[in-house]
Amino acid sequence: MKSLYLKYNRVAFWKKYWEEFDVDYEEFIDLNVYPIERTLKYVRKTDKVLECGFGGGRIIRHLTKYGYDIEGIEHERGAVEKLKSVDDRLKITCDDILNMDFADNRYDVALCFGVIGGLYDNTARAIWELKRVTKNGGTILISVMLDNLARKMQKHLSHFSDGEEEFYAWMDSKKGWENYFKTFGLYAIGSQEVVRGLKNSLDFQFYDFCQFFKNAR
Ligand SMILES: C[S@@+](CC[C@H](N)C(=O)[O-])C[C@H]1O[C@@H](n2cnc3c(N)ncnc32)[C@H](O)[C@@H]1O
Repeated sequence: MKSLYLKYNRVAFWKKYWEEFDVDYEEFIDLNVYPIERTLKYVRKTDKVLECGFGGGRIIRHLTKYGYDIEGIEHERGAVEKLKSVDDRLKITCDDILNMDFADNRYDVALCFGVIGGLYDNTARAIWELKRVTKNGGTILISVMLDNLARKMQKHLSHFSDGEEEFYAWMDSKKGWENYFKTFGLYAIGSQEVVRGLKNSLDFQFYDFCQFFKNAR
């Protein structure tokens, strides 16, 4: 695995995010995009679902609206409070993926998009926690960053920003991630790379998506 360092201040980013963007919309209009497309492919209406690190709430809001049994945790208290204030149907709490206040084997499916790769020396601990709370035979969907051209461009463009470089995320090849997840007893039964949205030279998002499963069912 390689570490990606960028001139990026995570704390400042999320503070600005909450000030400027507020919570996410309550549903996806286009169901063919990351991460709702993969989610709807693998989550069934009868499943008990957990979302870890829901951020602005785009996934948990959509699934709640359509009657799925989903709970969510998020580290950022402001995110939890804001979401609760706009939608009191949401089953959400402020908690840490590294030490979740849930019993073992509680969920059929755990969702975790854009979280574990940014945890620096706690990535493994987060994966063990996801595995602990998911039933045997359950499904864990995780998105991670790929070490690809998009990330190299992001690193290159970061040189033009102000500030100090700091750890942004772990990245690896698809094979590298699969081997890493195997060490936790998680076997990939599907994966998809997503790279999209180069709007202009400094305003872009790249998404790399691989999903890994506790056990195929
Ligand atoms: C890149 S955002 C992704 C948000 C959301 N999953 C999505 O796809 O829209 C990462 C989120 O993980 C949350 N997070 C980071 N560390 C966490 C932790 N230790 N426990 C729970 N959530 C955490 C952050 O607060 C942030 O909301």
